[in-house]
Order: sequence, then C-alpha cells, then structure tokens
Amino acid sequence: MKTKTYKKLIAKRLNQDFKSAVEIVEVPIAKPAGNQLLIQNKFAGINGGFDTLLCRGDVPYVNLIPPFDLGVEAVGEVAAVGDHVQDFRVGDAVVTTVRGGGYREYQVIEANLALHVREATPEVLTLMPTGVSALVALEQVGEMRNQEVVLVTAAAGGTGHIAVQLAKLAGNHVIGTCSSEVKSQLLRELGCDRIINYHQEDLNQVLKREYPNGINLIFDCVGTKVFDICVENLAVRGRLVVIGYISEYGKNPQPVTQPRIYHQLFWKAASVRGFLMPHYQQYMAEARDRLLNLFYTSKLKVAVEPAQFHGIESIPDAVEYLLNGQNSGKVVVRF
Ligand SMILES: NC(=O)c1ccc[n+]([C@@H]2O[C@H](COP(=O)([O-])OP(=O)(O)OC[C@H]3O[C@@H](n4cnc5c(N)ncnc54)[C@H](OP(=O)(O)O)[C@@H]3O)[C@@H](O)[C@H]2O)c1
Repeated sequence: MKTKTYKKLIAKRLNQDFKSAVEIVEVPIAKPAGNQLLIQNKFAGINGGFDTLLCRGDVPYVNLIPPFDLGVEAVGEVAAVGDHVQDFRVGDAVVTTVRGGGYREYQVIEANLALHVREATPEVLTLMPTGVSALVALEQVGEMRNQEVVLVTAAAGGTGHIAVQLAKLAGNHVIGTCSSEVKSQLLRELGCDRIINYHQEDLNQVLKREYPNGINLIFDCVGTKVFDICVENLAVRGRLVVIGYISEYGKNPQPVTQPRIYHQLFWKAASVRGFLMPHYQQYMAEARDRLLNLFYTSKLKVAVEPAQFHGIESIPDAVEYLLNGQNSGKVVVRF
C-alpha cells in the first residue's frame, strides 16, 4: 500500500459546539494483528445529535475523556487482513458500527466486528444502525401492531423515513411531520398517509381535528414542544417512544414549568418509553438481516441526503447541516 498515513476526526476538548470541540489529526496506518482487519472507510453516517452530545460530555453511558475518536457507522473495503483471518479477503465490502470507527479514512478492528455486505454504498450504511434503530424501537419498545395510527416526527430524516416505511409495511395508518415541500415529496413517495408540514399547518390542531381518538404509537425524534403535543394526543393505551430530542441538542435544555405528565398519561393508561439502541443489542442481528432483505427485495427504500460532504474536513459542516434540519434522508460523508 502506497499511503502511509490517514486522517481522522477527534474530539480534542469538550465544548458545547461540535466545531469547536473537534480537530483533524493525521496518523500512521497500522498493520492489522492476527484476527484484525484494516478497512478503508468509503462512507460514514453522520449522527449530528449524538456527535454533539458526545462532544459536550452529555452522553452519560460513555463518559469519555478527550481526546477521543468520533463517528460510529462506516461502510468500506477490506484493505489488509491479519494472518489468522479466514472469513475476509482484501477488497471485500464490509459495514462496521463501532464507536470511534466512523470519522476516519481507515480503521483497524477485530474481524468479528465487521459484517460482509454486497457493496459499500451509503444505502446499506443507512440501514445499519439507523434503520436497525427504527425497527427495534418500533417493535420492541413501541409494541407496533397493525391497523393503528402511528405518528413519526422528523419523518423525512435518516431514522424517520425508515420508521415511516416499517410502520406502513406493518399495516398502519402513518402520519409524518416535516418542515419543507421537498421533504413532503419524499414522504409521499414513501407512502406516508398524512404529511404535516409544520411550517404550513399546526401539528396540534391537525391531530385534534383529524385524529380525535388519539394516536396509538408515536415515534418522536424531536422533543420539547413536539413532545408535549405528542403526549397530549396519545390514544387510550397509546405508546410514545422517545427516540431522541433533536430540538434541544444544539441548545441548553429548557426548564419545564407545567403539570407533571403523569396527569395526562394516567387517565388514558398511556405510556412514554425511552429507546436507546445500545440497550437493545440482542435484537440487532435479526433486525439487520430483515432490513437488508427488505431493501434488496425493493420493499424498503433508502433515502440519502443529496447534498454531498466529501472528506474528513466536511464532517463539521455535515453535522451542522443535520442539526439545522436541512436534510432529507440520511446524511453521509464520503471519503
Ligand atoms: N435512541 C437511539 O438509539 C437513536 C438512534 C438513532 C437516532 N436517534 C435519534 O433520532 C433522531 C433523528 O436522528 P437522525 O440522525 O436520523 O437525524 P435526521 O432525522 O436525519 O435529521 C434531523 C431532523 O430533525 C428534524 N428537526 C425537527 N425539529 C428540529 C429542530 N428544532 N432542530 C433540528 N432538527 C429538527 C429536522 O427535520 P424537519 O425539519 O423535517 O422536522 C431534521 O432534518 C435524533 O433525535 C437522534 O438522536 C436515536
């Protein structure tokens, strides 16, 4: 191999702002040990919310001290194999979901952490772990059924657009929220039954007027006011899954000065449930295989944000783009 060094993005210091926390460093390409692979990353998934919280020191279950590596999922090609590796060859396409393995041009990892895929595309990357998270959250936490009303917020985003399709495939009536005509168009193409562009229509009013019996299952990515509206509009025995609270990631959390939400939940026997993928690892392999199968049989579409981000240098802009709500589908960076 001619190249001797590669670039990666690290968190150099904790900071409220992602751009101020990170730095690009150039390091030597390591030779893989016996059971390891050297992978050349082709695409990495941008998780603007998680990245920002990590750089602020606000992800309680990891508690990293800078400097630390950034990025999670990547898809690429095997560039070298360790002497004891049997299942991989140079040139194989693989996907990886290792914390710290995403925002770098090369990574060395244990071979058992890589998964063979047909090709190293951003669509395959979007299914893992973003699509997997949507599937596991809907089924394991949301107890998704059929013939129910399901609401997905940030429905045209990376996670949301997969959730919309999975809820439709399960036989539900699906409502999706978004902020632009371009995103509405994507949701129409994905078969979303009721699209609410919240710049044109008031979410609370639409839900109250058109769904007087409430919403059975809510997949909320947004938080703050949207979360409050979701709680208010839950059906009897409705389930609200907290997927994230992206409206707060760029800011300090708002103090809440209103009645406790158990007043709203109790009388409807409704529930609010948190979801965090790392606590549901045992469902990952089955979910991943099912999603890949749906994708390869054209039953599931994968939308990748058309704006192109090239190279390690572009990652802070890609994070900002996502946190500004500009994207449709999954934001990826290509190397
Ligand atoms: N719990 C887990 O394990 C897990 C795993 C994966 C993702 N997530 C969560 O899923 C959510 C979506 O993540 P993603 O990476 O797929 O991002 P994304 O949905 O591709 O992009 C974020 C979208 O959020 C929407 N949004 C609504 N209000 C916003 C606001 N005030 N500020 C910024 N954006 C706003 C925007 O769409 P509109 O403008 O159309 O509303 C924006 O495009 C996040 O909350 C993330 O933390 C959680």
